[in-house]
Amino acid sequence: MQENQEKFIELVNKENVGKNLKYSILTMGCQLNENDSEKIAGMLEKMQYQYIEDYKEADLIVFNTCCVRENAEERLFGKIGEVKKLKESKNVILAIGGCMMQEPGMLEKIKKSYPFVNVIFGTHTMQNLPENIYKAIIENKKVKDVIDIDGEIYEGLPIKRNSDYKASVTIMYGCNNFCSYCIVPYVRGRERSREPELILEEVRGLAEEGYKEITLLGQNVNSYKGNDKIKNFAELLNEVCKVEGIERVNFISPHPKDFTDDVIDVIANNEKITRIVHLPLQAGNTKVLKEMNRKYTKEQYLTLAKKMLERIPGLVLSTDIIVGFPGETDEEFEDTLDVVREINFEQIFMFIYSKREGTVAAEREDQVPEEVKHVRFDKLKELYESRVDENNEKYLNTVQKLLIEGKSKNNENMLEGRTSTNKVVIFEPHSEKKPGDIVSVKILEAHKWYLKGEIIND
Ligand code: 5AD
Ligand code: SF4
Repeated sequence: MQENQEKFIELVNKENVGKNLKYSILTMGCQLNENDSEKIAGMLEKMQYQYIEDYKEADLIVFNTCCVRENAEERLFGKIGEVKKLKESKNVILAIGGCMMQEPGMLEKIKKSYPFVNVIFGTHTMQNLPENIYKAIIENKKVKDVIDIDGEIYEGLPIKRNSDYKASVTIMYGCNNFCSYCIVPYVRGRERSREPELILEEVRGLAEEGYKEITLLGQNVNSYKGNDKIKNFAELLNEVCKVEGIERVNFISPHPKDFTDDVIDVIANNEKITRIVHLPLQAGNTKVLKEMNRKYTKEQYLTLAKKMLERIPGLVLSTDIIVGFPGETDEEFEDTLDVVREINFEQIFMFIYSKREGTVAAEREDQVPEEVKHVRFDKLKELYESRVDENNEKYLNTVQKLLIEGKSKNNENMLEGRTSTNKVVIFEPHSEKKPGDIVSVKILEAHKWYLKGEIIND
């Protein structure tokens, strides 16, 4: 944390003391944004704000935005409208930050259409939040703090984590890949890796606090660059697994083009690493992949995926797929279905291509009509869902190690946890086992979106 921000925390503290103020954060988008929101929460709590779920009850509202797909914009503008109504009856501070604020033209649009927004900040200025809140609440200013740079890394921000057992640790920021559909490199700047020692210090601290599961985050984790001692992602992953007390290690997202054998070996040799790896395919056709600037062919992806499945016993894969990229024909889309049939992904995050101004693909004239995109999306979904039962049934009668996460979301009387392959399992509570414990559970029933089991003694 920078010293001048500590000063603003003090000043806001003095102003807020005894007022019992509440904050609420709405996070859109990916886990990197979730992790940023945990840091925003950490800073706000240092300034005497207390968390409240319902933003209508809050004195300070933060929207942490995403811009990967277009529909996020409509959602945000709807939410800003709701806050406008709130502002008519009480004094609420509205701060909007994150990726969407880095988009060209967005600042002007908000300034013009929503002049009542108190603070706007971007992905490179989140660490200035104390100063910006100070200016908004004490100097009554409208603050715009967005800069377009490649970005620096700010260490040591306070953090208020969402879970007591599972924690995300960002290992690198930004992206250098410029996939032709993607806006991330424009709004998050170039790749920059955190020092490995600082990452390990954070992980050790988390283990001491009782955290059991760590997810290493980055836009492209396997191009992580360390130093002379811990050089690359494989070495970092291996070191994280050595931290005593941490039982599970996970990472998102890798890029297939950088998935080297040393990372595969580290996963194969470390049982702590989850047995699901997210390997974004995006498309299964080599021409489309080239135009997406993904730098691998259909065959290279298949070879990599099969090698991983062969070398890492018990591994399953999850993936991201975009349908309706500009110029994609029905035949080319069939190649995507082919890969899905061949790899049998355990989880697929499916997206309809969304045109993002400023990206190379947005300039193309051969955009795929909306109805065609939807037909392809439905086909892919149907294929995926036709495999779900079979994929779930393979767990029947197996014994799975689970991290107990708490009560089941759908059944108060049951506990819930996830397998090392990220399957949700519900089971009856056990007098000696509590959330945060790792337990062995025998799987007795397979349902579409969850499994049911019972705790057994090892
Ligand atoms: N349209 C649709 N999906 C996109 N993604 C990224 N950009 C776009 C876009 N313009 C998807 C990719 C990525 C995931 C996080 O979001 O599949 O892996
Ligand atoms: Fe976007 Fe590609 Fe970078 Fe992922 S790797 S953030 S899809 S540009």
